[in-house]
Amino acid sequence: MSKQKIQAPKGVSEYTPPRSAAFEFVREALISPARLAGYQLIELPVFEDTELFTRGVGESTDVVSKEMYTFEDRGGRSITLRPEGTAGVMRAVIEHGLDRGQLPAKLWYSGQFFRAERPQAGRYRQFYQVGIEAIGLDDPAIDAEVIAIADAGFKSIGLSKYRLEITSLGDAASRAAHRVDLVKFIATMNLDEATAARATLNPLRLFDDKREEIKQAMLKAPLLVDYLSPESKTHFAQVTHYLDSLGITYVLNPRMVRGLDYYTGTTFEFVHELLGAQSGIGGGGRYDGLMAELGGQSLSGIGFGLGVDRALLAAEAEGIINEDLFVSDLFIIPLGEDAKVKALSLATQLRSHGKNVEIAFGDRALKGAMKGADKSGARYVIVLGDSEISSGTLELKEMKTGATSSVKIDALLTALSK
Ligand code: HAM
Repeated sequence: MSKQKIQAPKGVSEYTPPRSAAFEFVREALISPARLAGYQLIELPVFEDTELFTRGVGESTDVVSKEMYTFEDRGGRSITLRPEGTAGVMRAVIEHGLDRGQLPAKLWYSGQFFRAERPQAGRYRQFYQVGIEAIGLDDPAIDAEVIAIADAGFKSIGLSKYRLEITSLGDAASRAAHRVDLVKFIATMNLDEATAARATLNPLRLFDDKREEIKQAMLKAPLLVDYLSPESKTHFAQVTHYLDSLGITYVLNPRMVRGLDYYTGTTFEFVHELLGAQSGIGGGGRYDGLMAELGGQSLSGIGFGLGVDRALLAAEAEGIINEDLFVSDLFIIPLGEDAKVKALSLATQLRSHGKNVEIAFGDRALKGAMKGADKSGARYVIVLGDSEISSGTLELKEMKTGATSSVKIDALLTALSK
């Protein structure tokens, strides 16, 4: 009797060939502008002490209250699979004293994150982000640069059907002034107990409520942007000034609520137009109180997380994934033992020059091997037999057009580079 197959846990994103090549391309493209801007890699564990997230991300958030994968490890410690990257980066910056060196500390990361959300298209329980964090600088120019780096990541994939939404959540004084009026306003609403409790933890959460009656009621709620302190106003005006000078277009969205509680000041989201309900392809902002909240010194910070899964879906929706990017340059079909030896050394040599070269092993008949070449999608194919080896010349066949040309084995690299 055959055994029952085991399937992946519900709601995880997985990438197998050939789509994994497009995934890898998107992930690399998204993070390359950060590397060019001097951000350095930080590799962190995917699980952390649970308290890092309850304190760092905030208990009023869905992420902490409903979506964390939390378990007790064998030593009785409460452990959580990271739902996001910023809290872990701050923990590591404090722990390793990265805030004692040159500031800002500029870090990038890439990896899996975990949220027990209801799975749907573009929303997974394990998903991928690339992100950056710049710690220890208040200059509004870095806010603009961080946003520009995210924008450059999306553009380098070729995405165009998205918009950037920005707002400011102000400094502590701005939020305190707003909170007084917002709490008064919320007191006039007839809220159920759970919602009221959330509102007590963070009244801004109500702007994010998906229920129609609450959405309607909140249309009249006081907006934080109308309570910005003069300093916060100036800071935000400078951010938009720098974005204007960079030619980066944005929409002001004073009702934006990020799903994490640590945000202060400049906050932003990238929204793709073709993705339906899960349209947020990236987001971020300032988190000027987070480091102190986690026991470090009082330094400001700003960063973003970009959703790799969603950026890939967006690229597919825009029809801009070029499959040709991911195929081999050359497929070698060796006929016989001597040819196999020659194929191995030829492939090694061409690969050392950066060519993608595959060899058809297994002594299949020529017809079958040709089929393999076709399926591989390789640009060119050569058949290497005794006569080719002795003459030093072979037929280079372009798979797409079927065109062949006679090429010296020594000149193969040049021919492939054309
Ligand atoms: P976030 O907005 O929660 O921010 O997540 C960033 C991006 O991750 C989202 O825009 C989305 O593209 C993707 N994402 C989030 N949840 C899922 C999911 N369940 N399935 C697929 N994709 C998802 C943060 O995580 C912050 N740490 C970003 C940040 C860094 N802020 C400052 N520094």
